[in-house]
Amino acid sequence: MKNEVSEKYIDSLILSLSLEEKIGMVHGNTLFSTKAVERLGIPSLHFSDGPMGVRLEFADNYWHSANNHDDYASYLPCNSAIASTWNPKAAGHMGNVLGEEARGRGKDVILAPGINIKRSPLCGRNFEYMSEDPRVIEKMVVPMVQEIQKNDVAACVKHFAANSQETERLWVDTIVDERTLHEIYYPGFRAAIKEGGLYSIMGAYNRLNGEHCCTSKALLDGVLRKQWGYDGVIVSDWGGVHDTTLAAEAALDVEMDVGADFDEYYLANSYKEKIISGELSEEGLNEKVRNILRMMYRLKMIGPQKESRKAGRFNTKEHQNATLDVARESVILLKNEEHLLPLNPGFRGRIAVIGANAATIHANGGGSAEMHALYEITPLMGIRMLLGGNAQVRYAPGYYVPKKQRAEISWQATSTMSEEELQATENGGHEAAGQKHLQKQYYEEAVALAKDSDIVIYVGGLNHGYDVEGLDRADMKLPYEQDKLIEALLREKPDTIVVMYAGSPVEMSWLPDAKSLVWSYYAGMEGGKALADVLFGIVNPSGRLSETFLKNLSGCPAVQGVNFGRKDKVEYTEGVMVGYRYYDTHEIPVNFCFGYGLSYTEYVYSNLSVEQDGTDVRVRCLVTNTGAVAGMETVQLYVAPKEKGKLIRPCHELKDFAKIHLEAGETREVVLTLQKKDFSCYDAERKDFVLMSGNYELQIGAASRDIRLKETIQITG
Ligand code: BGC
Repeated sequence: MKNEVSEKYIDSLILSLSLEEKIGMVHGNTLFSTKAVERLGIPSLHFSDGPMGVRLEFADNYWHSANNHDDYASYLPCNSAIASTWNPKAAGHMGNVLGEEARGRGKDVILAPGINIKRSPLCGRNFEYMSEDPRVIEKMVVPMVQEIQKNDVAACVKHFAANSQETERLWVDTIVDERTLHEIYYPGFRAAIKEGGLYSIMGAYNRLNGEHCCTSKALLDGVLRKQWGYDGVIVSDWGGVHDTTLAAEAALDVEMDVGADFDEYYLANSYKEKIISGELSEEGLNEKVRNILRMMYRLKMIGPQKESRKAGRFNTKEHQNATLDVARESVILLKNEEHLLPLNPGFRGRIAVIGANAATIHANGGGSAEMHALYEITPLMGIRMLLGGNAQVRYAPGYYVPKKQRAEISWQATSTMSEEELQATENGGHEAAGQKHLQKQYYEEAVALAKDSDIVIYVGGLNHGYDVEGLDRADMKLPYEQDKLIEALLREKPDTIVVMYAGSPVEMSWLPDAKSLVWSYYAGMEGGKALADVLFGIVNPSGRLSETFLKNLSGCPAVQGVNFGRKDKVEYTEGVMVGYRYYDTHEIPVNFCFGYGLSYTEYVYSNLSVEQDGTDVRVRCLVTNTGAVAGMETVQLYVAPKEKGKLIRPCHELKDFAKIHLEAGETREVVLTLQKKDFSCYDAERKDFVLMSGNYELQIGAASRDIRLKETIQITG
C-alpha cells in the first residue's frame, strides 16, 4: 500500500535527481547491481539469485564467479521440494532463511521464488518451480514472500509469465488464451502481489501472444499495474529487453543483462538520448524511478527508518535446522509393499548403497540456482551418519556420469548450443570410449556388491545435467542406463529399496517389480540426512506430489505434436487442462497421481459436513490416525462441477488443503473453506471472473485419485 508520507519524500528526491542520475538507476551498472546516487544518499540496488539460497558472488563485469571464499551460504530445498511438503508454514520458514541470508550477504533483492507452472515434465527448470497447480502455488508463495520481505529484502517472484519451457527461451512466442492465463498461469503471481505484498517481480524471457514479456505494455501495465494495482518494481530477466521505446513505455522499471556494456543497455544511453530529443517523456522515467525509490523506502534503504534496517545473518544453526525440517517433510514415499520401510536403524549387517546420486553434490549446478553451499550432506553420508559404526555400509556408483556435464559448462553458453554441440562438449573425443568401459565396470561391481549384501539401497535419478536452466529434457527416460541396473538389482535382491533423487519425474519401467520407492527432489544441504531419517523411520514421511508422475510422455497434452519445445511459436492448445486437470478428466493411467504420497501409518476420513452461506462454504471432516506412529496428513479439497456447460472445465480442481499432525490413535477435525472465486471461471470479454452457477461435488481426499468423502451442493449467482 502506498503511503502519503513516503510518496512525498520520494517525489522530493525525484525533483533533486538529474536525468543522468535517474538513468543510472534503471539499468544494470554491474551484472547484479544498479548505480547509486551518493550525493543524495541513494544506494545501488544489489540483486542475487535465488532460489535455493543466496548465490555465489559474480564478477562485476564478467559473467563468471568472483571466486570468493566468503560467499558460502545455506543451501535450501528446491521449490519443488518445498511444495511437496504441502505446508505453507514450511514455505514461510524457507522464505525467512532466504531473506535473512540475502540481507546477511548485503543484498536488497533476492531473485526468488520461481513459480512458473509445470506445464510438462520436460522443462529444464521445473525443479525451481512449485507445481502444476495454481492453488498449491498461491498457498505456498504468499508466506514465502512475506517471510523473505520481513528481513528488509525484496522477494522477486519470477518469471512473469507463461515461462514453462527453456528451449529458445529468449525468443519463443507462447500463445495462451486469456482465460487460461487468468486461471492457470497468473494466480500465483497475483497472490504474491495482492496477498503477499510483493516488492518486486521479474519479467520472463519469452514472448507472450506476440510480445516480449519484459516489454509488453499489455502484460506489465495492463495486467500488473492496472488490473492488480501493483506498485512495486518490475525487473527484466537478464537480457530480456530488446528495444528501448518498448521498454520505456511498458511498465518495466529496471533492465538487467548478462553483458558488461552497461551504457549500451536499452534503458541506458539510448533511453537518455530519446528523452533529450523529446521522443520519450521524462515523466515515464520518473515513474520508474518512483517505483524503485518506493521499494528502497520499504526496504529501509532510504528514508527516516534507514538506521533500523535489519542486518540479516547467514550460515546460522537455526537456518540449518530449518532446512533439515523442511527437507524431512518434503520426502515422498511412493511405494512400500510388505512394509519394507522403514529399515531398522539398529541394523548391524551389510548394507549396499548403490547409485551415483548417493554420493553426488548438487548445489553447484542447475544454472542461476547454483550455490556455494556451506556443506551438503549426500544420501550416502546421511545413511552413514545415522547408522554409525556397527553396520557395514559399502558404496558402489553403479552407473557412470560423464565428467563434463552440461551443468559444468556455462549455462549461458549451453543455452545457445545445438544438441550435437552439447554432446560433443560433454563427451570429448576419448571420453565416449572410456565411458562405455566404465559403465560396464560400474554395473558389474554394483550387482556383485548387491549379491554380497543383506540390504540394498539404490539412489539414482537425475542431476543438474538434466534439471538445468537453458535446456529442456528430450524425454523422461532415466539416463546412464539406470533402468538396466535397477532391473538387475531387483532380480538379485527383490527387496532393494529404490530411491529417486531428481528435479522432475522419470519413466520407471521397473516400477511393477520394485516393492518400495522413495522420491526426493533436490533437498538442500541436509537432504541426505533427511532422506536417511525417512528410510530408517526416524521421520514418518509426509511429502505429497505437487505434480502428476506420468508413466510416459504420451499422456501429456502439453508435449503432443508441436506445442512444446518449438523454437518459434508454442501454442498452449490444452488451455486450462494442465496437469491432473487433464489426466484425471481423461482418465490417463499414471504412475502416481497429483497429491499422492504414503506414510508409515494410515489415516481414516469420516464425518463430512458442509455449511453453506451463498458462495461461502465451510467443509469439515474428521481424520483419524489409525496406525502405531505419529504422522502428518494432507487433507485435500477438490471441487467438481456436475453439469457440462459451454466452457471446457476439468473434472475437478484443487481449491483448498490443510496439513495436520496426528499422534497415533488421535482424531482431529479439519476445516477447509471455499469462496466465490472457487466456483468461478475467467471471462475474457468481461475481463473478470464470473460465477458459474450449478451443482458441485465437494471431494475430500488424500490425493486427486483417492477421494474419501463427497457431497454435492448447489451454487446460485
Ligand atoms: C534467469 C533468472 C535469473 C537471472 C540472473 C536468468 O537467466 O532466467 O532466473 O534470476 O538469469 O541470474
